[in-house]
Amino acid sequence: MLITGVSGLLGNNLAYYFRDRYDILGLYNSHPVTFEGIDTEKCELLHPDNIKNIISRYNPEIIVHCASLTNIDECEGDKSTVNKINVLATGHIVEEVMDKDIRLIYISTDSVYEGIKGNYSEDANINPQNYYGLSKYEGELKVLKKENSLILRTNLFGWNIQDKESLGEWILGQLKAKQRIKGFKDACFSSIYTMELARVIHISIMRNLTGVYNCGAIDSCSKYEFCLKVANCFGLDRTLITPISIDDFDFKAKRGKNLTLNVDKLQKALDYRLPTVDHSIETFYRDYQCGLPEEIKKDQSGPQGESVNIPYGRHWICEEDIRSVVDTLRSERITQGPKIEEFERALTEYCGAKFAVAVNSGTSALHIACVASGAKDGDEVITSPITFVASANCAVYCGAKPVFADICLKTYNIAPEEIEKKITQRTKAIIPVHLAGQSCDMESIHRIVKKKEKEFNSKIFIIEDASHALGSIYKNRRVGSSVFSDMTVMSFHPVKHITTGEGGVILTNDEGLHEKLKIVRSHGITSDPGKFVYRDRAFQPSADSYQPLVNPWYYEQVDLGYNYRITDIQCALGLSQLKKLEKFSERRRKIVNRYNQCFSSIESIQIPFESRDCDSNFHLYVLLFDFEVIGIQRAQFMNELRGRGIQTQVHYIPIHIQPYFQKKFATKWGDCPNAEKYYQQCLSIPLFPAMTDSDVERVINEITHLVRGR
Ligand SMILES: Cc1ncc(COP(=O)(O)O)c(C=O)c1O
Repeated sequence: MLITGVSGLLGNNLAYYFRDRYDILGLYNSHPVTFEGIDTEKCELLHPDNIKNIISRYNPEIIVHCASLTNIDECEGDKSTVNKINVLATGHIVEEVMDKDIRLIYISTDSVYEGIKGNYSEDANINPQNYYGLSKYEGELKVLKKENSLILRTNLFGWNIQDKESLGEWILGQLKAKQRIKGFKDACFSSIYTMELARVIHISIMRNLTGVYNCGAIDSCSKYEFCLKVANCFGLDRTLITPISIDDFDFKAKRGKNLTLNVDKLQKALDYRLPTVDHSIETFYRDYQCGLPEEIKKDQSGPQGESVNIPYGRHWICEEDIRSVVDTLRSERITQGPKIEEFERALTEYCGAKFAVAVNSGTSALHIACVASGAKDGDEVITSPITFVASANCAVYCGAKPVFADICLKTYNIAPEEIEKKITQRTKAIIPVHLAGQSCDMESIHRIVKKKEKEFNSKIFIIEDASHALGSIYKNRRVGSSVFSDMTVMSFHPVKHITTGEGGVILTNDEGLHEKLKIVRSHGITSDPGKFVYRDRAFQPSADSYQPLVNPWYYEQVDLGYNYRITDIQCALGLSQLKKLEKFSERRRKIVNRYNQCFSSIESIQIPFESRDCDSNFHLYVLLFDFEVIGIQRAQFMNELRGRGIQTQVHYIPIHIQPYFQKKFATKWGDCPNAEKYYQQCLSIPLFPAMTDSDVERVINEITHLVRGR
C-alpha cells in the first residue's frame, strides 16, 4: 500500500492502522517522518517522473492519496501552489496508474458542497465556497478518469503526528490548560475519527468498493456541540466553552455553514453502520487512554530515527493488540475466563498439536512439563549447555540432575550422538533446545530415545524447548506439533516471536499429559467430578446414583501444583499477536536474508547454518566472529557497537560453567568443548520485525566498519 501525505494527520493514521496488514510505503514531502514497521520516503509529487519511479519500484496494489494542502484560509491565498498540489499532482498519479492494476483511493472533502442545506448526498450540487473545496473537487475529476477508483468525501479529526492539532486535539489542549474557547453554533458537520475512517477504508478495500461516497459520522452536530461533547467525554470543564456565530469571525476564505453529510449510500454499499459523532469521540478518547497520541508521536523520531538505540530484540505491539487487551479488561473475566482456552486452541491449530496448556512463563511451562514426566530425586534430565538457564533449572526444581550433552558446531544445537552417550538408566527426560529458531535433529533424537527405552526398559520423555522456535518448520511440520516428542514448550517473553508480556505454553498430543499439566498449573486442584477421590464428600445424596449432583463448593487437591496460571488479559494479547505472526516471520526472514547477503562475504564472520530439514523462524541472528583475526576483544566490540546505538548479546554462556551448576553438580570447563568454543565467538545482532530497513542497514554498516576497519 502506497500512502501519500504520510506526514499529515490522515496519512499517518492510515499508515499506523494498516501497517500490520500491508507492506506500506509512505510518501512525504517537507516533513520527514519515520514509523516502526513501515518504509517512508521523500517524494515531490509535482514531478511526474518521481511518481513513475516510485510506482515502478514498489508496484503497489493500492494507493491511498491523502497528500493535499488543507488549510482553508492558506489555500485562498496561494491558489497556484494549491492547484499544483491538490489538482496537478493528483492528475500525475492518475496518469501513472491509468493502465495498471492499482486501486486508487482519493480522500476528498465535505467542502465540495455548498454548505447551506446540509444532509448532502453524493448527487447534490457541487458548489464549493472556497478554493480548497474547488481544488479538491478538481482533484476528484482527475481521479474519476481512472476506472474503479474510490473517492471518499469526508471531514475528520484525530491524533496528529506533527505538532499541528486537529480540531479534537485543539479543544482538548485548550480545555486542559483551562483556556476559554469559542465554538461555532451555526457551523455543522459530520466529522469522523481518523481510525474509524481507516476502518471504513479497510472494509472498502475488502469489498472492492468503487465510486464517489460521503464518509462521515452517521449524524451531525455544530462545532460548539462538538466542543461540549469532547469536554464531556474527557471530563473537562464545559463552562469554558462559549457559543458564537461563524458570521462574527472574519475568515479569509468563505465557509459553508451546514456541511453535514448523508452517508446512506456508503452504509448500504458496505453493509456497515458508520459511527455517530459521539461514538467517534469515544473512540478518540479510548485511544487517548491507551496512549495512542504518544505512540504516534513517538514514531516521529527524526529522519530515519538516527539517534534511536537498536536493541537485539523487542516486542511489536500495535493498536489492535491494545484494543484486544482493553476489551478483555472491560469484560467480566480478566483471568480464568474464555480467552485462555481460545488462545490454547489457536496455538494447537497453528502448531498442529492436539492439546495446549498456557501458563505464566516459559520457565513454568518447562517446570510442569518436567513434573508431568515424573522427574524426581535421583533422575537425570539431559539438555544443551547452550541455552537459557531455565532449560536446566526445570529439572533441578523437580530434584533431578541436569546432564549436559555437547552441541554440534554446525547448528549450535544439542548433538544427537552426544545425547546417546549421556543416556543412562536414570535418564527421565531429554530437553532439546531449538536454538535461535532452528529445530534440533528431532528424528534422530527420537530414534535414539526409542532405542534406549528398549535397552533400559523405561520411558524417557522428550520435551522440546521451542522457546525460540514458534513458527519454525521441521520436516514440513510446524515446531510444536510434537510429532517427535511428548511435549513442546514455548515462551512468550517480549523478545520472542509473539508476546503475552510474560507467558508460555506446553503443547502435547497425549491426553493424559494434558490432564496432568492442567491440574499442576493450578495448585494440583481439580473440579472434575470424574477425578474426585472422596465421592461421599463430593456428591449430594441422591436417588440417582448414575448422575449424582456435585456439592457446589466442592473441589479436591489431588496432586502438588503451583499457581502458574496465565490471565485472560495476557491471552487476549497473545491472540491478537498470533494473528500477526506470519507477517512478523516474513519480516524476520527478509532481515535475515539481507544480513546473510552482507556478512557471508566477510571471512572473519560465520553466518548461521541452515539445515535443509528446517525452515527457521529466526528468533535470534547469531554470528560467530573470529575476534582474534579481527584484532578486537568481544567486550570492546560490543561496547563500540553500543556506543553507536546498537545492542548485541551473547546467547549463551554455557550452563555447565555457571557457578551454581559447578558447585551443585560438579560440572566444569572442558565438559562440553564445542559449546565452549561456540561461546568464545558468538554474538547475537539485532533482529526483530519492527526494525526498519534503515535500522538494518545501520547495523550492517557499523559491524562491517568495525570488522573491516581493523
Ligand atoms: C531457550 C529458552 N528456554 C526457556 C526460556 C524461559 O522462558 P521465560 O522467560 O518465558 O520464562 C527462555 C527465555 O528466554 C529461553 O530462551
